[in-house]
Amino acid sequence: MPHYFRLGLLPKKRHVQFRRPDGVLYSEELFGTEGFVGPSSTMYHINPPTQVYGWKTLFSTKAQYVEIDTMRMRHVKSGHGMNGFVPPEKLGEVVKQGARPQGDAIDGRVVLFGNSDVEMTVCNPVTQMPYFYKNGQGDECIFIHYGSGVCHTMMGALRFGPKDYVIMPKGVIYKMTWDEADATAEELFAGTQSAGQSKRQPKGLASKNVKAKAISAWRPAGAPENWSSEQMPLGKYLLIETTNGSHIGPPPRYVSKTSAQFLEHSPYCERDLRLPEHEPSDGRPMFVEGYGEFEVRVKARDCMHSYMFHYHPLDIVGWDGCYYPYVFNINDFSPITGKLHMPPPIHQTFEAHNFVICSFCPRMLDYHPDAIKVPYNHSNIDSDEVLYYVEGNFGSRKGIEVGSLTLHPQGIPHGPHPGTIEASMAHAFTGELAVMCDTFRPLFPTKAALGMEDLKYPASWEGEHFPRLTKGEMVGGNFRQDKVKGKRIKSKLGDLLDVYQNQNAIPEPLKRLGSPTPAPTGNVWAPNGPSSSGGTAIGSGNGGGNGAGNGRGKGAASAPVNGHAKTAVKPAAKANGKASGKASGKASSKTNGKASGKASGRTSNAAANARAGR
Ligand SMILES: [Fe+2]
Repeated sequence: MPHYFRLGLLPKKRHVQFRRPDGVLYSEELFGTEGFVGPSSTMYHINPPTQVYGWKTLFSTKAQYVEIDTMRMRHVKSGHGMNGFVPPEKLGEVVKQGARPQGDAIDGRVVLFGNSDVEMTVCNPVTQMPYFYKNGQGDECIFIHYGSGVCHTMMGALRFGPKDYVIMPKGVIYKMTWDEADATAEELFAGTQSAGQSKRQPKGLASKNVKAKAISAWRPAGAPENWSSEQMPLGKYLLIETTNGSHIGPPPRYVSKTSAQFLEHSPYCERDLRLPEHEPSDGRPMFVEGYGEFEVRVKARDCMHSYMFHYHPLDIVGWDGCYYPYVFNINDFSPITGKLHMPPPIHQTFEAHNFVICSFCPRMLDYHPDAIKVPYNHSNIDSDEVLYYVEGNFGSRKGIEVGSLTLHPQGIPHGPHPGTIEASMAHAFTGELAVMCDTFRPLFPTKAALGMEDLKYPASWEGEHFPRLTKGEMVGGNFRQDKVKGKRIKSKLGDLLDVYQNQNAIPEPLKRLGSPTPAPTGNVWAPNGPSSSGGTAIGSGNGGGNGAGNGRGKGAASAPVNGHAKTAVKPAAKANGKASGKASGKASSKTNGKASGKASGRTSNAAANARAGR
């Protein structure tokens, strides 16, 4: 939970008399976790929060998972089509696929993936909420993709907009009110004070005139150019919800153990959090003194229950503590970047028991001259991984759309799609924006997810990963595609190993400095040029473009990757094959000024390769 905060009217001490203007005591409520030893807040109600006069169970909320014994990559398109939306003429298909706009911000939720720790849901509501809601069994992380409005909570108002994470702790009563074509969420909410629901809410865009006006002059905040009200009337969000009773909060490593203050290395801090505010602005958080019939729907025991109160449920005049809802916009996440690829934990934003939530934001890409700028192949040995794609070009994936969700299960590796590694080389910045949820237990899809699934996704890694191979260009040493087969490749790789071992000597300058032997770089088998800072260099740098002479010449090539190499190597001559002879000159010496020897075969840059007729 975040830091201590107070809002509204409070007595000087806890658990003492605190009276309303009419002399009646306010009703104090401790809103606590973990059996009185976890984060808590103390609240003061106008009315006793226990006064309920009716309750009933409405329906089951238990997600029905399918294909629980199937383990494979999945791609679910919750957005459908360009900019995340299906063309109007295909709306019928969307209905069949279970992704059509429906319900309100609670009963319109569609669970796509989940397990006993977490559920991932999308929601594209059609109507405003006519009731209040409390999730009594889990915390909610609501990522607003499109739309804006106010989340009216019992602890204050939270205005939300595109790309906001709304963190709603378990037990907080709230109502999401969306901005509409002709009214703000505040106006809509004010009209519900006495009736419990807006006269305008159930009908929404009922009037044809209003609807026409809405379509022509209004769209949900952040909605794409091809938006239509039929596709998304109010907005859309992704929900990540705990199902194991744990709480969603910042990673403990981001905050001080002694003060809970965000530490310097954290990618966000207190100033980035938007906390509940007064509404109405009379000095009290959510004081609404209204009487009548008010329904609060409570999710608990995997069922939705209806509880009826005769007073407005947002009747708190003050509260303080460390347990409250708040908003964090993903654009306020300050990405941590690196010289070489940084692993997903640097994107971590929140966590709960057995899962984490990460924000992949626009950022500078790795700045090592030979850096591979898309994630390496990796196995989620202990995790299932779901990415929700928000906007931008997703460099390491093909076929992904805005609104797509991909599931990469533990048990099999995943990595860049064919061609994306090479395509990433020239870029210094990525504009991608995505939300990731990694879980420590397998995730299962629902029937709704299968209805939106791109069944071709598991095969999307097939194809040529290194397009220059198909063009007959030199890659990975001295190989052409027609020679990277069978025994032939083994002999070639053996040559490379010999060269590598011969070069694994301490360069003279390092000897003088008394430095230890440089560690092998592991770049020997890289399809692109090896590191220019890694000590020894083998293989060709075809297209690295950095001028760091990491080539291997026929005869006495210098391979001066770090500006120190003087060791002449010859074994490359045989392996050079067709590459030898045409590119002559002191190619490598141009790159660092210290290299000795002549690179008569492979040079380090693409231009030299081109001159050599490759
Ligand atoms: Fe991954």
